[in-house]
Amino acid sequence: MEYRRLGRTDIEVSAVCLGTMTWGEQNTEVEAFAQMDYALDQGVNFLDTAEMYPVAPHAETYGRTEEIIGNWLAARGRRERVIVATKIVGPGSRFRYIRDGKPRLDRKNILAAVDDSLRRLRSDYIDLYQLHWPDRNVQAFGRLGYEHDAAADEMPLEETLAALNEAVSAGKVRAVGLSNETAWGVMRCLALADAGTGPRTASIQNPYSLLNRSFETRLAEIALREDCGLLGYAPLGAGTLTGKYLDGRRPPGARLTLWPDNKRYQGPQAEAAIRAYVTLARDHDLDPAQMALAFVFGRPFLTAAIIGATDMTQLETNIAAASLRLSPEVLERIEEIHKVYTYPCP
Ligand SMILES: NC(=O)c1ccc[n+]([C@@H]2O[C@H](COP(=O)([O-])OP(=O)(O)OC[C@H]3O[C@@H](n4cnc5c(N)ncnc54)[C@H](OP(=O)(O)O)[C@@H]3O)[C@@H](O)[C@H]2O)c1
Repeated sequence: MEYRRLGRTDIEVSAVCLGTMTWGEQNTEVEAFAQMDYALDQGVNFLDTAEMYPVAPHAETYGRTEEIIGNWLAARGRRERVIVATKIVGPGSRFRYIRDGKPRLDRKNILAAVDDSLRRLRSDYIDLYQLHWPDRNVQAFGRLGYEHDAAADEMPLEETLAALNEAVSAGKVRAVGLSNETAWGVMRCLALADAGTGPRTASIQNPYSLLNRSFETRLAEIALREDCGLLGYAPLGAGTLTGKYLDGRRPPGARLTLWPDNKRYQGPQAEAAIRAYVTLARDHDLDPAQMALAFVFGRPFLTAAIIGATDMTQLETNIAAASLRLSPEVLERIEEIHKVYTYPCP
């Protein structure tokens, strides 16, 4: 397993970060424990969760994934072996059940959310505390373009960063990171940190896969020049890059079978791109999932890829992909396909 420095902190994380958002919904606590035990045995030391998880989010399961991780940390001990990343939700009208229905990235919400996550995680500290999405109008979750709304009710980054600073100073948070962020947001946070407001952003947790390489346009440069690497989420495009949904197939129990309204990785462009990548993998005797993951693991701006699995076979396949090197020929073909299907799933 390869380990990389998280931003400019002294934290070393494995290139494989284990995603957790299925735990408490598609996966039981027993299954989650087995995933964490296996991943640690393979050298993975990095877990990504969120107060909002599991997905799909709802009031009854809110915080459940953090609780599962907390139970595992308590059962296994040796907290320091694991780097735990979690996230605070940004604003959203559907979160009526979170902090009186008014989740924002303000001081009150941040300090309360940190304490609640610590309680659920049964830990004295969070290694990486991330803003799940910005508290301003941005292009994220399937949107590429930007439409400015001068009247939007937005939280000043200064307030958010000052509150994060308090959590760091109190010893509750070791490092902070952004998620679903734009080039403007990352540069602004870095500039504020340089000027003394808030901790320096250590990472950018954004989507990244063969189906969504939008990170490369602006953020890749920032990641490399500023030591603020990508934690790439949905590296398999929610599982679609395995090819298992092609031609209308809907495997029982799989994510898009359970939640067909999740359209981010569906549609004609996506289907054509997925078919091209799956065919390429098969032509080179590669597992399509492993080829897709190996591509992500090989990117120079990546700190870690956040993988997800709902069973142990998937988990074994996906962790093994971290040591797979793609041939120059496969990489070249990937670029050719990318030129045809550039942003099938932003
Ligand atoms: N910051 C954010 O906004 C954000 C958003 C999304 C995710 N994340 C983080 O990133 C993590 C990973 O995201 P993701 O789950 O969307 O990643 P993904 O790698 O795109 O999809 C993982 C899903 O694909 C299926 N799968 C995985 N490996 C497979 C294999 N070898 N063969 C067949 N199917 C396979 C499984 O679902 P099925 O078995 O149900 O098919 C699995 O849950 C999350 O757990 C979370 O920590 C963050």
